[in-house]
Amino acid sequence: MIVTTKDLFEQAYGKYAVGAYNINNLEQTVGLFRGNLGKHKSNEEPTDPKTSAPFIIQLSRGARSYTDKRFLEGLIRAAEDVFPEAIFAVHLDHGTEEVCYECIDSGFYSSVMIDASHEPFDENIATTRRVVNRAHERGISVEAELGMLGGVEEDIAVSEEHACLTDPDQAVEFVERSGCDSLAVAIGTSHGAYKFKGSQGLHFDRIKAIQSKLPGFPLVMHGSSSVPKEWVDRVNKAGGRLPNTSGVPEDQYLPAAKLGVTKVNIDTDGRLIWCAVYREIFRDKPDDFDPRTPGKPFMAEYAGFILHKNQMLGSAGQLEKVRAALTHQPA
Ligand code: G3H
Ligand code: 13P
Ligand code: ZN
Repeated sequence: MIVTTKDLFEQAYGKYAVGAYNINNLEQTVGLFRGNLGKHKSNEEPTDPKTSAPFIIQLSRGARSYTDKRFLEGLIRAAEDVFPEAIFAVHLDHGTEEVCYECIDSGFYSSVMIDASHEPFDENIATTRRVVNRAHERGISVEAELGMLGGVEEDIAVSEEHACLTDPDQAVEFVERSGCDSLAVAIGTSHGAYKFKGSQGLHFDRIKAIQSKLPGFPLVMHGSSSVPKEWVDRVNKAGGRLPNTSGVPEDQYLPAAKLGVTKVNIDTDGRLIWCAVYREIFRDKPDDFDPRTPGKPFMAEYAGFILHKNQMLGSAGQLEKVRAALTHQPA
């Protein structure tokens, strides 16, 4: 069941974070649905209420144009049919104004992100306001971004020295003037696999300061992959060449969620799993050329990874409560 992002946020706020996972292809889609329903190996396994979770599927501009956006939308529709017990929202990740309008008008998306964080403050507000006006007419919610994360997103690269944490007072003014429904804040994370050299983490003082000025307002954390050493090592042992870096410590997700971080964006970790599994198969089965040979273990590994992430986010085991609240039936 596709629901609004707002509905998911109302259930989660201050208690747990909803995982927002990027997809690009069939195997990621199936692994994602299975993982959120506690099905490890096959579509037919029973749903596990102790681990099943509500979630957000994110489509980036790059994902939408990788083949044709209609393939991804078709995959999601098919997954909704195959997994009727799933409850999820569909979100445009890092949209431009033009792509936001396209997604709003398509009627397929639960929410869109307008990423004008590289624009000056007043222009970011004005752009966001225009998108909000159009989205709200259609009951679609809008995520905006204030502050700059480091790393690379879509075609924009931001170096460490240009990344800057979100200012709490500016956040209040931004939300009031733009009318956005959630705000992506810069709290120490960055996009991609090369986040921290040592053992850095989230800037909890900054999250607290923002939440105290915007109580009850959903905050979004981009760049939330943890870049698990286990997966980096597997990639490298199978012939990859990734440097040893670290991401957001997983035990920081839930404390951040309690401070209003309601959506946690994860893409890179899923790519690492994809890369490790495919490299291992190519290394270990040099005479096999069936695309299903790496695809099957990838779906299982990805499902297991999603389940684990949801446990760290606190969303695992929340699906039936969300269903009861949204359908007005007892849990
Ligand atoms: O934050 C960006 C996401 O990881 C999407 O990446 O634009 O390469 O699909 P992408
Ligand atoms: P990661 O690169 O840390 O997975 O972040 C993904 C993201 O923020 C998508 O919008
Ligand atoms: Zn992002």
